[in-house]
Amino acid sequence: MGKKISNKVTWVGKIDWELKTFHGDELSTHKGSSYNSYLIRDKKNALIDTSWIPYDKEFVQHLKQEIDLSQIDYVIMQHNECDHSGALVELMREIPNVPIYCTKKGETIIRGHYHKDWNFVNVKTGDTLNLGETTLTFVEATMLHWPDTMFTYMSGENILFSNDGFGQHYASESLFNTEVDLSEVYTEAMKYYCNILNPFSNLVTKKINEILAMNLPLAMICPSHGIIWKDNPTQIVEKYLQWANAYSENQITLVYDTMWQSTRLMAQAIAKGIQEVDNTVTVKIMSIVKDDKNDVLTEIFKSKAFLIGSPTINNGYSFAIGGLLEMIKGLKFKNKKASAFGSYGWSGDAVKQMTEKLQEAGIGIVNDGIRQLWVPDTKMLEECTEYGREFIKTL
Ligand code: FEO
Repeated sequence: MGKKISNKVTWVGKIDWELKTFHGDELSTHKGSSYNSYLIRDKKNALIDTSWIPYDKEFVQHLKQEIDLSQIDYVIMQHNECDHSGALVELMREIPNVPIYCTKKGETIIRGHYHKDWNFVNVKTGDTLNLGETTLTFVEATMLHWPDTMFTYMSGENILFSNDGFGQHYASESLFNTEVDLSEVYTEAMKYYCNILNPFSNLVTKKINEILAMNLPLAMICPSHGIIWKDNPTQIVEKYLQWANAYSENQITLVYDTMWQSTRLMAQAIAKGIQEVDNTVTVKIMSIVKDDKNDVLTEIFKSKAFLIGSPTINNGYSFAIGGLLEMIKGLKFKNKKASAFGSYGWSGDAVKQMTEKLQEAGIGIVNDGIRQLWVPDTKMLEECTEYGREFIKTL
């Protein structure tokens, strides 16, 4: 059912309580998500974004309860990944001639997904659509995070529809930031930023500054996932500016994989050395197998430095650490330092290979890393602790 969020805007989205992974298995969504769609009623009526494919029929059915579909004058598609465009086929079956406003790239992507010849109207930054008492202004946000992305600003009610930007995978019956546990929302917003938007941080900063320079009054930011920023909406904009600027906290994270506990023991001993030298630094130890990979990446995002540990197996590092290293590379973390560690039995190549991978990912390498043969005894663990002391002193 729709929920009125302002005089002219009604939320007509879908809350997905059960969603536990997104983008296949690329991103965990412990708190579920929502696919926010917004219906604007003015002299002309516009629908902004739709819903994910599995909910297409439900979406259209609910929308019909909200408005006679023939009364919809415009469909605005801000970004055409299928979590937002997925209900288009079902919707356009009912209103095939209604114009779809999107960027040029958006049209290409919709055609590429659904292979339909709908009535597309391409818009670019600064183009407007008058609805009567309110006007929509479109702002291209290329590569935030797809080539087609755009934001839509609604004058009169001063609402920024930001699609994925400022969103969170967070399911809640309450729609506004005033009505939820804000610390949970920020945890999810940071995880979203880290795992989806971080590679585009330079563009994030540029786009935010471009929008701020427009000096638009802002009553609400309505993203396409999670809660709406109604109370002090610029708070999330300020957070984004921090996150986009090589963000780190006073934290060091150690992530390990282990076969027979030796590399795990090394992680603990290294962490001990770090804390002995600086007990103000937050030290976290995570297992890449037992902890969630996206939570691990978010902790790395928060860290000024991190260490990756793997035993040597088949002359290399473990499968799970290999996946993590690929994700670290893809997310393009900035201004972070790291080293590698791990146990071995004979070839012991993993530490060198992990170090090379980290370097390839643009991470500053602190030193050559540390290896220990077979199971570390007390003396070897003390070497790891000393390594931890030196690691933090070198930072
Ligand atoms: Fe929420 Fe990029 O789709």
